[in-house]
Amino acid sequence: MSNDALSSLFGLDGKTALVTGGSRGIGYMITGSLLDAGATVMISSRNAEACQEAAGKLSERGPCTGFAGDVSTAEGCEALAEEVQNRHESLDILINNAGASWGAPLDNHPVEGWDKVMDTNVRGPFFLTQKLLPLLTAKATAEDPARVINIGSVDGITSPSWPSFAYSSSKAAIHMLTRHMARDLAPRHILVNAIAPGLFESKMTAFMFDDGPVESEVLRRMPLGRSGNPDEIGGSVVWLSSRAGAYLTGAVIPVSGGYAIL
Ligand SMILES: NC(=O)c1ccc[n+]([C@@H]2O[C@H](COP(=O)([O-])OP(=O)(O)OC[C@H]3O[C@@H](n4cnc5c(N)ncnc54)[C@H](OP(=O)(O)O)[C@@H]3O)[C@@H](O)[C@H]2O)c1
Repeated sequence: MSNDALSSLFGLDGKTALVTGGSRGIGYMITGSLLDAGATVMISSRNAEACQEAAGKLSERGPCTGFAGDVSTAEGCEALAEEVQNRHESLDILINNAGASWGAPLDNHPVEGWDKVMDTNVRGPFFLTQKLLPLLTAKATAEDPARVINIGSVDGITSPSWPSFAYSSSKAAIHMLTRHMARDLAPRHILVNAIAPGLFESKMTAFMFDDGPVESEVLRRMPLGRSGNPDEIGGSVVWLSSRAGAYLTGAVIPVSGGYAIL
């Protein structure tokens, strides 16, 4: 296949994307790959300064801007959608990546932790997508549909061996929401898929790497025996966002070193 044919199949020139939680971790990795593929990318999180700083670094790879947006409240989702609307007339790719976790034993798991995780990981993606529907449908066609990619987790597929009850439940919920929204939004030419990552180094997973990743419980359960790298999560998102991924909707794709098959 020629380079031109490859770019036409996987390239994202002229596409506009929003990555929630793009200031660090997996969102930052995904943003880098979208920029490499030619997209214009907005990143958001609760911390405007962190987003601007990350966007500054990522701008070496393509046009990237950063601003604040809290997805854990209905007002936050509305304000974020408005911010995007002020900058662009349409949106081709929405990556619902922002996420929170909370570890506590079943016997004393606090309500506060449960609500924080559910609000960020489930309510946020639902209402942000709802608020962005006018922008997502603005240019979408059967041949060139818009994309919503939800970042789930292998913890929503297999039962984790650590106490993250709200987190695993929230990720199973976002996988189901992906399928349900995919069916609903297909006639509007919006494809909805989820990626269920295994283990990627980030602030959320730093505690596993502090103990030494090879020793960690997660890696012991992972057939490929290693964590994933930025190209491996970013490449999956580029594929789903590109012409090559235009016939896929309602899928939950484990990018997990085989963890999800256990
Ligand atoms: N790393 C892994 O191995 C792994 C595995 C499976 C799934 N995941 C999923 O991948 C996604 C990214 O995780 P990560 O590992 O990259 O974690 P991370 O390093 O903690 O990054 C989380 C991102 O989400 C943002 N965020 C948190 N709460 C938010 C809110 N209420 N509104 C807007 N933004 C918010 C954070 O910025 P602020 O704090 O500044 O708002 C940050 O940018 C999450 O959905 C996570 O569940 C990660």
